Amino acid sequence: MSNKKRVLTGMQASGDPHLGNYFGMMAKTIEFQNSGDFDCFYFVADLHAFTTKRDPAVFSKNQARCVIDWLALGVDPEIATFYRQSDLSGLHTELTWYLLCQTPMGLLERAHSFKDKKERGLEANAGLFTYPVLMAADILLYDANIVPVGKDQKQHVEMARDIAQKFNHEFGETFVLPESKIEEAVATIPGLDGQKMSKSYGNTIEIFAEEKDFKKKIMSIQTDSVELGEALDPENCNVFALHKLFQNPNLSALESQYKNGDIGFGDAKKQLFELAWEYFRDARDRRAKLVAEPAYVEEVLQKGAAKAGAIAEAKLKEVRKKLGLDHRA
Ligand code: ADP
Ligand code: TRP
Repeated sequence: MSNKKRVLTGMQASGDPHLGNYFGMMAKTIEFQNSGDFDCFYFVADLHAFTTKRDPAVFSKNQARCVIDWLALGVDPEIATFYRQSDLSGLHTELTWYLLCQTPMGLLERAHSFKDKKERGLEANAGLFTYPVLMAADILLYDANIVPVGKDQKQHVEMARDIAQKFNHEFGETFVLPESKIEEAVATIPGLDGQKMSKSYGNTIEIFAEEKDFKKKIMSIQTDSVELGEALDPENCNVFALHKLFQNPNLSALESQYKNGDIGFGDAKKQLFELAWEYFRDARDRRAKLVAEPAYVEEVLQKGAAKAGAIAEAKLKEVRKKLGLDHRA
């Protein structure tokens, strides 16, 4: 086993990826992989998707899409182990069961995301309630050290850590204690209206939108109403914040233009569109190729599952033995 720290994260297919998803978590995930300093495990968390009701045909399309989007946006299966959770469903759900039997009800009752959903009146099933335990199994099966996630998932990683600690205490050192990793600088990406970019608020900018729709969205970012020639405040401007995220090479010049009243929001948005469209050019090209090569994509997933499965199987053997299931260990 390499002595690099292991980074693991799961991605839930939830429709078209937007800039919030990308800068909030996808970019960091790709950075971990490309640094060469970590052993990376990335998977599509398709079993988690069943906690909310979905049409099977829509479900299937979304999962396939998620795989392609991640590969297009930079997951490199030659570097990272990339797989589908459901290809290893036996292993993931078996560990989930053992962990469920170690998880106090109170721990799950305190989960923010469950409480929020219930408060919003969503019908809660037991899958939604126990979702953090499946997530703990996803993490603990692979001895992950670092789990890059969006802010909303931080508590779930802490729960995985609590569950691991409890198991280790009871049965002896078995699981590595994972840590969540959140980029504070980009913790919340603002949407078109300035509040958190989210599909639920209808304020998203989709990465793979058609050019004219992409442009239209960028041009519709809400800004203060100011006269042309008036100074603009870069610190309180969503457009400027996005220029920063897209690493505009002329950011300091733009900042001066803002402060001197030499640029209006319309031009700042046009420049942002050009920058952002160029930024995702390679990803768009890769995506078009992947869509045309489903057999290649499937082969990548099967290889990933074989590699991940061997690791997970070894870990489960250790767990079964600790629990006294000697005949299965
Ligand atoms: P949505 O809110 O659009 O439904 P998801 O809940 O599917 O997005 O988010 C998937 C991932 O992207 C999560 O890790 C989440 O934390 C991250 N993410 C989503 N929107 C943002 C945002 N506006 N800023 C930062 N991260 C985000
Ligand atoms: N619950 C995560 C989300 O909604 C996805 C996920 C499932 C995950 N299993 C995981 C993330 C394990 C990190 C580690 O975004």
